[in-house]
Amino acid sequence: MRVLVIGGSGTIGQRLVPELRARGHEVVVGSRTAGDVKVDITSASSIRDMYQLAGELDAVVCIAASGDMDDFATLTEDELLANMRGKLLGQVNLVLIGQRHLAERGSFTLTSGIFADYPARGVTGGGLISGALHSFVLSAAIELPRGLRINVVSPTVVEDSADAYRDSFPDLKPVSMQSLVTDYVRCVEGPGTGEIVRAYGGT
Ligand SMILES: NC(=O)c1ccc[n+]([C@@H]2O[C@H](COP(=O)([O-])OP(=O)(O)OC[C@H]3O[C@@H](n4cnc5c(N)ncnc54)[C@H](OP(=O)(O)O)[C@@H]3O)[C@@H](O)[C@H]2O)c1
Repeated sequence: MRVLVIGGSGTIGQRLVPELRARGHEVVVGSRTAGDVKVDITSASSIRDMYQLAGELDAVVCIAASGDMDDFATLTEDELLANMRGKLLGQVNLVLIGQRHLAERGSFTLTSGIFADYPARGVTGGGLISGALHSFVLSAAIELPRGLRINVVSPTVVEDSADAYRDSFPDLKPVSMQSLVTDYVRCVEGPGTGEIVRAYGGT
């Protein structure tokens, strides 16, 4: 398959891209600053340009996002909107625009996160966004044309980020990179659609 991995240069991407290549897929990496195609998912026109440049695609995986932790006492609509552009609306636009570009029976695999299901301090925006992504995937799965599939992987803190997040989320047991990569590969290669893959390890 020809697979576009947006965010393929990031923490999760650096593990997923070699595995997809080892399994015989042709992988195109996209991001704002690194990889084969430049894209900023916060911009619909950038996403349109990316699909024009990327050529024929069988699968799109998005593990790209930007956004900050928040302080509920002072949280504003503008701060939430900025986070939503970086993770929710960017991924939604990848699907709304990309549905016209993917090959028949192609697939989208999006990324949400554990705070959709488990609240923690400082991630109200993250929880809201990930919950919305789960609902979006349920709708998109029954709306997408031409047999296109869509799934979302919802990781807890990942093994390779454990040190960075230990102080903020001491109760979360990291999911192993191998297990997480297997979840993404199954979304790309398997038949499933409308699945919310909760990669919560031993939490
Ligand atoms: N790491 C964790 O423990 C963890 C846990 C739960 C959920 N997640 C979720 O998993 C996803 C990936 O996490 P990660 O830790 O791998 O992230 P990361 O290491 O920060 O990497 C992010 C990747 O996305 C790209 N990117 C960021 N903003 C972009 C934009 N607007 N347009 C296009 N590309 C963009 C970055 O490249 P450029 O800077 O070059 O654009 C980079 O390749 C995120 O949605 C994150 O919330 C991560």
